[in-house]
Amino acid sequence: MTTEHVIIVGGSSGMGLALAETLLSEGSEVTIASRSPERLEKAARSLASDRVRTVQADIAHENDVARLFNEPADHVVTTAVDGVGAYQPIAEFDVDTARGVLDSKLIGAILLAKHAAPALRPGGSITLTSGIAAYRPSPRGSMVAAVNGALASFARAAALELAPVRVNVISPGWVDTPVWDLIPGSGKAATLAAKAEALPVGRVGRPEDIAHAIVALMRNGFITGTVLHADGGHRLV
Ligand SMILES: NC(=O)c1ccc[n+]([C@@H]2O[C@H](COP(=O)([O-])OP(=O)(O)OC[C@H]3O[C@@H](n4cnc5c(N)ncnc54)[C@H](OP(=O)(O)O)[C@@H]3O)[C@@H](O)[C@H]2O)c1
Repeated sequence: MTTEHVIIVGGSSGMGLALAETLLSEGSEVTIASRSPERLEKAARSLASDRVRTVQADIAHENDVARLFNEPADHVVTTAVDGVGAYQPIAEFDVDTARGVLDSKLIGAILLAKHAAPALRPGGSITLTSGIAAYRPSPRGSMVAAVNGALASFARAAALELAPVRVNVISPGWVDTPVWDLIPGSGKAATLAAKAEALPVGRVGRPEDIAHAIVALMRNGFITGTVLHADGGHRLV
C-alpha cells in the first residue's frame, strides 16, 4: 500500500505546521510549502522526520503551484496567508496593499484547485482555509471578510465541478499563531486574552485544534462543499 502524501501550503508556520506534525505522527508523508526558505528550513528542523519534504513556492504564482504536483499526492491543504495590509478602512482602501491577502488566500486557492484536481490520487481532497472574519466582521476587516466569504462560495462550486475530488473549507476562529505577531509589543497577548474571555469555550484556539479539524475534512469521504467552523463558539456570541 502506498503511504498517504499530503501537501500543505503554508506548512512552515501556525496551523499548517501543526497539521504537518499531526500527519507525520500518523505515518503520512508530508510536503510543506511556503515562500521563505529560512522558515521552511526551521519548520523542517522542528518536525525532524525523514517523511517531510520542503518546497519553496508562492501560492499566488501559477508556475510554483503547478510544480507542487510533480510528485503524486492524496490531499492538498492551504493555510497560506500574507496578512500584511489585510486590515484597512474602506475609505482608504488601497488595492496594492490588499493584494497580499487576496492573492495568498483566494487567487492562490483557485490556482491550487486547478492544478490539484487532475493530479490527486483517487479519494483525494482539497482543503482551503477561510476564517471567522467572514461571520463576525470587524471595522477595517472588510477585505478579510470578503476573501473568507468568497472561499466558502468557491468551495461549493468547485466541489461540483471537480468531483469526485472533494473540496472543503476550514474556518478557524481566533487561534494563537505567529500571524498575530504583527500586533506590536504586548498587544498580541492582551488581544488574545480578551478574545479568550469572550468565547464560550473560555480560550482561544491552539494550532492543533485546527489541524485535527482539517484531518477530519480530509479523511471523511462523505464531506464535500462544506465549511467546518472551528471557532470556540465565536459565531454564537
Ligand atoms: N490565526 C488566527 O487567529 C486565524 C483566524 C482566522 C483565520 N485564520 C486563517 O488561518 C490560516 C492560517 O493562519 P496561521 O495563523 O496559521 O498563519 P501563519 O502562522 O502566519 O502562517 C502562514 C503561512 O503562510 C505562508 N504564506 C504566506 N503567504 C504565502 C504565499 N503567498 N504563498 C505560500 N505560502 C505563504 C507563510 O510562510 P512564508 O512567509 O514563508 O510564505 C506561513 O507558513 C490563514 O488562512 C489565516 O487567514 C487565522
